[in-house]
Amino acid sequence: MVKICCIGAGYVGGPTMAVIALKCPSIEVAVVDISVPRITAWNSDQLPIYEPGLEEVVNQCRGKNLFQHTNVEKHVSEADIIFVSVNTPTKTRGLGAGKAADLTYWESAARMIADVSRSNKIVVEKSTVPRELLFRTFLTLTEFSLEGETPDGQKAVQALKDVYAHWVPEGRIITTNLWSAELSKLAANAFLAQRISSVNAMSALCEATGADVSQVSHAIGKDTRIGPRFLNSSVGFGGSCFQKDILNLVYICECNGLTEVANYWKQVIKVNDYQKNRFVNRVVSSMFNTVSGKKIAVLGFAFKKDTGDTRETPAIDVCKGLLGDKARLSIYDPQVTEDQIQRELSMNKYDWDHPIHLQPMSPATVKQVSVVWDAYEATKDAHGICIVTEWEEFKTLDFQRIFDNMQKPAFVFDGRNVVNVKKLREIGFIVYSIGKPLDPWLKGMPALA
Ligand code: NAD
Ligand code: UDX
Repeated sequence: MVKICCIGAGYVGGPTMAVIALKCPSIEVAVVDISVPRITAWNSDQLPIYEPGLEEVVNQCRGKNLFQHTNVEKHVSEADIIFVSVNTPTKTRGLGAGKAADLTYWESAARMIADVSRSNKIVVEKSTVPRELLFRTFLTLTEFSLEGETPDGQKAVQALKDVYAHWVPEGRIITTNLWSAELSKLAANAFLAQRISSVNAMSALCEATGADVSQVSHAIGKDTRIGPRFLNSSVGFGGSCFQKDILNLVYICECNGLTEVANYWKQVIKVNDYQKNRFVNRVVSSMFNTVSGKKIAVLGFAFKKDTGDTRETPAIDVCKGLLGDKARLSIYDPQVTEDQIQRELSMNKYDWDHPIHLQPMSPATVKQVSVVWDAYEATKDAHGICIVTEWEEFKTLDFQRIFDNMQKPAFVFDGRNVVNVKKLREIGFIVYSIGKPLDPWLKGMPALA
């Protein structure tokens, strides 16, 4: 039986291994992690990660050919194929701070593999790691062969293809050299993020001119060269990958003296920050230029629907912006706990992966934030509602009931274009929806500070 061991039971390692176990009953899969609470959760009914369908897959395989352990060394030494999916957050200090990946976790995993391995291993890199370092680390620590370049390397490529061939058609498995693999990964995420920043930039122009960004997206998406997907205007993109991978790309460009190229990609992040600021400014300026002491309901905190993941979620910037203007926030997300929200709001940027720097939330801020388990509770007595995540359930809320229980005038700021603007205006709400023709009430109000 082929044995796979995955180092890192996070958002990537956990679900990837569950799928490999499901699709390859002849392979034994061990997922290992240094975090005891994470492994305990994987072995319980409360998985540490929410994703539709994940629980079913785990339940089907756990104890059969899928196991989660904390004994990292044992399972690494027994494995034929080792996947590395440890975290590689953006560096917060030192050389390349704010751009380059922090490879502390990755290096310690690489060293451990070299230390405990007594037989040939295939190491599959899932973490986003610069190829130079990957190559040099393994070259100095082990008898490493660069994939594809030696007969052993070819065998390794084939063994990995055999795993994926259980469910991915052979023709769709691409092999490239290391630099191409690295840049493909970064470019794919950078291109996707760039699409969102492009449509978000258009959303500002739509508001200024009276166009509707959904109509513009629909029209341009009909051109098959552009295509309809990933053209939803939003309060900004979030998630653990887009910003981090663009920053990585920028760093590689700068290291190669390509300043113009680096600046081009930086602009994608700048527009994303602009979009989040623009949203907060719109909220404050609409509500008579002050939200001080006003209750604002924040619906959604995850960085997108169908996940409990809050890394780099635009909700952090929106909430911090409103708190900066002394608003009182009542936050509701169907999958994010109070503890997680409080932690996100008390951390500096990038600190999630560096818990040592955790700052407690100031007592004043704690007083300003409450987390509730129901959208109706969150919106009760509120002056305004900000929709930050596009959860399906927000589309079917009883907005008449919500309106009746709110302060007047009642504002809705839809950062995800999920509500029916016309219907809400008929109820009596003043509605702002990103990139849509402005509510008559908001016309003439300065949108930006
Ligand atoms: P994560 O933080 O959710 O999980 C990483 C896990 O690795 C943590 O549970 C941590 O405890 C564990 N870990 C750290 N050092 C370890 C060690 N030495 N031994 C054992 N376990 C260790 O991160 P993630 O979102 O799963 O991302 C992992 C990597 O995959 C990152 O490099 C990321 O850039 C890359 N990636 C992420 C995505 C995504 O969608 N999240 C997509 C593609 C690639
Ligand atoms: C991304 C890539 O899609 C995936 O291929 C890669 O492996 C990891 O990074 P993820 O971060 O999980 O995946 O989410 P994704 O669906 O790409 O969304 C990223 C962000 O963009 C979210 O905040 C989402 O709400 C936002 N988004 C997405 C938009 O604002 N508009 C869109 O049209 C699409």
